Order: sequence, then C-alpha cells, then structure tokens
Amino acid sequence: MKVLVTDPLLPEGLEILKKAGLEVEERVGLSPEELKEAIREADGIIIRSGTKLTAEIIEAAERLKVIARAGTGLDNVDLEAASRRGIVVMNCPGGNTNSAAEHTLALMFAMARNVPQAMASLKAGRWERKKFLGRELMGKTLGIIGLGRIGSVVAERAQGLKMKVIAYDPYVTPERASEMGVELVSLDELYARSDIITVHVPLMKETYHLLNAESFAKMKDGVLVINCARGGIVDERALYEAMKSGKVAGAALDVFEKEPPDPDHPLFSLENFVCTPHLGASTLEAQKNVAVAAASQVVDFLVHGVVRNA
Ligand code: NAD
Ligand code: MLT
Repeated sequence: MKVLVTDPLLPEGLEILKKAGLEVEERVGLSPEELKEAIREADGIIIRSGTKLTAEIIEAAERLKVIARAGTGLDNVDLEAASRRGIVVMNCPGGNTNSAAEHTLALMFAMARNVPQAMASLKAGRWERKKFLGRELMGKTLGIIGLGRIGSVVAERAQGLKMKVIAYDPYVTPERASEMGVELVSLDELYARSDIITVHVPLMKETYHLLNAESFAKMKDGVLVINCARGGIVDERALYEAMKSGKVAGAALDVFEKEPPDPDHPLFSLENFVCTPHLGASTLEAQKNVAVAAASQVVDFLVHGVVRNA
C-alpha cells in the first residue's frame, strides 16, 4: 500500500511508515493538478496546512482510505467529500499544543516591547530608544476566544505573567473555566475589557471573520490583537482599517486567509504589525510529535485496521 506525503514530515514519521512495509511517496509543493494525479493511486495521504484536499481532489483518489493531518486544523480538508467516499480523516491535535501556545506568547511579547521593529531599526544603523517605548504585560487583561487545548495553555502561562485572564467559549462551562482561574464572559464583555485579545478557535462557518469591523469597534482603544489559530478568523481588511485609525494599537498574525499572503498585503505596510509565516507548530518537538503520531495512526489503520486519533 502506498502513502503519499505532500507536506514536510520529519524522518521519524517516514521511518514508521516504511518499517510497517508501506511504500512512501514524498511529493511536497504539488500544484492542484499534480496532486489530483498523485493521489489517484494512494491508499493514504499525510498532510499539514500546505495541501488543500478539495472535493475535486478527493474524488480523483481511486484507492484512498485515510487522510491524516500531521497537526490540528482540518479546515483544508473537505470533510463531506471524504465522508461520502468512506475515507477516514484523522488529526493529531495534542502534539503541537504547547508550541502554538508558546508562539502566541512570543507574538504577545514581540508586540508589547516592539522587538521586531526595534531590531530592524538597530540593524539599519539607528539607535531609537525613545521611539520604542513598550508596555508591561503584568496586570493587563488578556481576552482568550476559544478556551480549548491551546487557549487553556495560553491562559495558564499568562497567569504566570500575572495577567488577568478572561475568556469566551460557548462550549466550556463556567465551572471548568473557574478551575483554570479564568473568568468566562460574553464576547461583547471580552471585547470591552481586554487589553490584548487572542483567538484560539477552529476555522468554521461560525468563526469566519469572527473578528471584523463591528468587533474591532467594540474593543478598547489601543487593544493588541493576536491570531495564531487560523487565517480567515480575523477579517484582514477590517484589521487594517482598525490599525490605521489607531483603534487597534498593534496586531500579530501567524496565519493568513491566503497563504502565502501577497507580498503587497496592506498590513505589511504598517510598522505596528508583527507577523510570522505560520510558525505556530514549527518547533522540533512539535514536528516530531505530529510526524510520529500521524504516521503511527496511518499504520494502525492501513496495516492493523484500528482507528486511533492521538
Ligand atoms: P481545540 O478544539 O482544543 O479548541 C478550540 C476551542 O474553540 C474549543 O474549546 C471550542 O469550544 C472553542 N470554540 C469553538 N467555536 C467557538 C466559537 N464560535 N467561539 C468561541 N469558542 C469556540 O483546538 P486547539 O487545539 O486549541 O486549536 C485551536 C486553533 O489553533 C485551531 O484553529 C488550530 O487549527 C490552530 N492551530 C494553529 C497552529 C499554528 O501553527 N498557528 C498550530 C496548532 C493549532
Ligand atoms: C495545525 O493546525 O496543526 C497547524 O496549522 C500546524 C501546521 O500544520 O503547521
């Protein structure tokens, strides 16, 4: 049986597939047309966020039995099309939780202390100590939208920084939140009270452009906004307008609605905009975790007929 790997997967994962007697075809960076051709003969496919498995591509697969995401988000897989064909879809949600949470904190610190801008200025030969006056995180209110795996770790770490943490998550009980020392509030209250807002929800119909012009208008003047979850949760045009007007004092995006974004993306022209190219899960530790988990799950299913979701 053949497993197609279309996004980078560490050798630790590839070895597990090969040891189990599966043929591995690594084809990173395929165009949709090339992917349609390559998937035809595959029994399994392992992807990250770079591969879009649309209905058309899934329909082209003649033998596909399993799709495994070496990571969390399944928004790049047409789940309905996969279900129609009886294809099992798996992800490895826990393996990169800590890395994504730590990257969220990195973005928060970077914004609060102007780290990227100050570094660029210094490397350009300037010494601008006055320009880069930062702000402390201690005592500030952090509003977390989505108190799941990553949101909870961010909450715990932020409390260690002596921040007040409030959250909005309609699927978490107030009791569970209070066990974490987090106050559960409505979305409007979160907008009104937070100094920094970070989103950790999946991208779905309900969360597409969750942060939009209307929500920015409800936020505190000078709020900082972070999206280390999924592109499309924040309306980038509305964010640009809110930053231009000064309503939002800084924003940090790890993810974009279109990846990679166009080089002339309007947000890139703003000095108080911090960004990274979808690096939330890009640590050695997380990549090892998800490579091993995804490969083991595919082997369990294709070789032993067992469905497991780590
Ligand atoms: P999770 O499923 O554990 O948590 C998501 C939380 O969002 C849940 O508690 C759920 O109740 C809540 N939620 C759902 N709909 C909501 C809504 N409308 N409003 C408020 N809350 C809502 O997921 P996770 O593992 O914490 O991942 C969170 C996000 O981070 C996902 O979008 C995932 O794809 C993304 N992610 C990004 C990276 C990266 O590289 N930047 C890495 C890992 C995960
Ligand atoms: C995820 O959802 O797990 C992330 O996007 C991580 C990734 O695949 O890079």
